[in-house]
Amino acid sequence: MFITFEGLDSSGKSTQAQRLTERLATRPLPGEKTVRPVRFIREPGGTVISERLREILLDRANLDLNEVSELFLFSASRAQVVREVIRPAIARGEIVICDRYADSTTAYQGYGRGLDLPAVLQINRFATAGLVPDRTFIVDIAVVEVGRRKETAGMPYDRMETGGTGFFEKVRNGYFDIAKRQPGRFVVVD
Ligand code: TYD
Repeated sequence: MFITFEGLDSSGKSTQAQRLTERLATRPLPGEKTVRPVRFIREPGGTVISERLREILLDRANLDLNEVSELFLFSASRAQVVREVIRPAIARGEIVICDRYADSTTAYQGYGRGLDLPAVLQINRFATAGLVPDRTFIVDIAVVEVGRRKETAGMPYDRMETGGTGFFEKVRNGYFDIAKRQPGRFVVVD
């Protein structure tokens, strides 16, 4: 079973993803007697190589990182974690919960950066070897609230978060569009 969480930065999706991981690690699924191993992964990351790519992607010193390079680095990180961790775990019957996955690339690089959408979707399919989550929760948040939460928490902005309000609006609308296209997989939560 493969479940992913999506949404804007500071939406609370990571908290929800971790809570679900803890819940499923202590209670069996309906109709099952024992708990299955549950694996939590945060993207980009989840393998040694993916964590190194994460550093490049989020480092504010890399402000001149080209958006096409950015697309390929996120996809490279995902290609690695899918093959090294996610696919083998699912094959063993484990539950995998991902904080972000390919829909982040569609929303941020496709809709946010404005890269060619059919190309982004094709790269997603290639990077994930066609592995699609069984269920995806989009944790929705108003864009003004993102800034408010960041400031309240006193958290510094990473490279992706320097895009500004206009960028986040495009990403948020992107998520709505993605969810509309595949209503069976998505649950949008306020
Ligand atoms: P992270 O600190 O993990 O943020 P969050 O807690 O919001 O998930 O940083 C990941 C950033 O990378 C976030 O701004 C979203 C962005 N991102 C993409 O642009 N494309 C992607 O494919 C992924 C996985 C993340």
